[in-house]
Amino acid sequence: MSNSSLFDQLYKKLKNVIPVAEIRYKAELAEQINRLKKERNAVILGHNYMEPALYHSVPDYRGDSLELSRRAAEAEADIIIFCGVRFMAETAKILNPNKTVLIPSPRAGCSLAESITAEDVRQLRRLYPGVPVVTYINTYADVKAETDICCTSGNAVKVVESLKSDKVIFLPDRYLAGNVARETGKTIVFPVKSPAGLARPEPGIEYAMIGWDGRCEVHDKFTVEDIENVRAQFPDVVILAHPECRPEVTAAADFSGSTSAMIRYVRETRAPHYLLLTECSMGDNIAAENPDRELLRLCTVRCPHMAEITLEDTLESLRQTRYVVEVPEEIRVRALRAVTRMLEIG
Ligand code: 13P
Ligand code: SF4
Repeated sequence: MSNSSLFDQLYKKLKNVIPVAEIRYKAELAEQINRLKKERNAVILGHNYMEPALYHSVPDYRGDSLELSRRAAEAEADIIIFCGVRFMAETAKILNPNKTVLIPSPRAGCSLAESITAEDVRQLRRLYPGVPVVTYINTYADVKAETDICCTSGNAVKVVESLKSDKVIFLPDRYLAGNVARETGKTIVFPVKSPAGLARPEPGIEYAMIGWDGRCEVHDKFTVEDIENVRAQFPDVVILAHPECRPEVTAAADFSGSTSAMIRYVRETRAPHYLLLTECSMGDNIAAENPDRELLRLCTVRCPHMAEITLEDTLESLRQTRYVVEVPEEIRVRALRAVTRMLEIG
């Protein structure tokens, strides 16, 4: 693809989203990345939250965490570059121990992944012996290694139901857990943390799910009041909320689903206005692909971790083979069981 044609393509999609000088500069970077990607037999996986120019130019596959895990499992290239955050790149490495997995920035973390440790999971298992543990994919490999099965926002309900257990430990996102509990009609409790360690909550409470106090720092910001204010101004707005939002927020929205499910929803419906309660860049990416849809903007803050991934660093990642993602083998094989079990469910 020549530089001008990549510029033309980006310009067509992004002219109403980013300034033309930025499109020109980024098209040149993307051109270099795409050339080097071929030379090095690399594949680029890009999460739906990538900034618009990167998202529309260099990924071979784009998607939500579940779709990208599947792509990682099928990858044939020698190098996988993950334009997403570290837990996603680690999942690719767990599935591909013999490939080089790179992440363009070593700082692309996630507040959910950082909210829980492997030792926390071991303590929970001691507190609730025999109860199966589901971990959200937004966790690091050592945490996945302690658990029975992973899930993503796209399959969490299906995964919990597949266990056919009257009690389930669901970690670490308290809001995703609350959303799953509501959808499956379960009651949720949270263990009490004290200097002495973890303790069960009040005896006598009936419950089916045990959660953890992790939160996504981006989705935590949206409130029911935000929804009410927007509905007061735009009564015909359709509101979409990611399941990492508080349960009262998803309940007040019109639709809740994974990032790809939200993209499909806007593509396949026709409402006068849409409001997305999720990371900001995705609104730009949807607007670029659906110029005839009006997307209202509420958020001005991006996920600081996803924002770490730039075209400049993706180019350097390919040039310098940096930053290599490694998972110790003893952890990888145990984490693989939890990831594979999830992929088998679908
Ligand atoms: P998805 O799996 O829905 O893409 O979500 C990933 C994520 O980190 C959302 O904040
Ligand atoms: Fe983590 Fe939230 Fe960023 Fe997703 S949006 S990567 S959950 S901090």
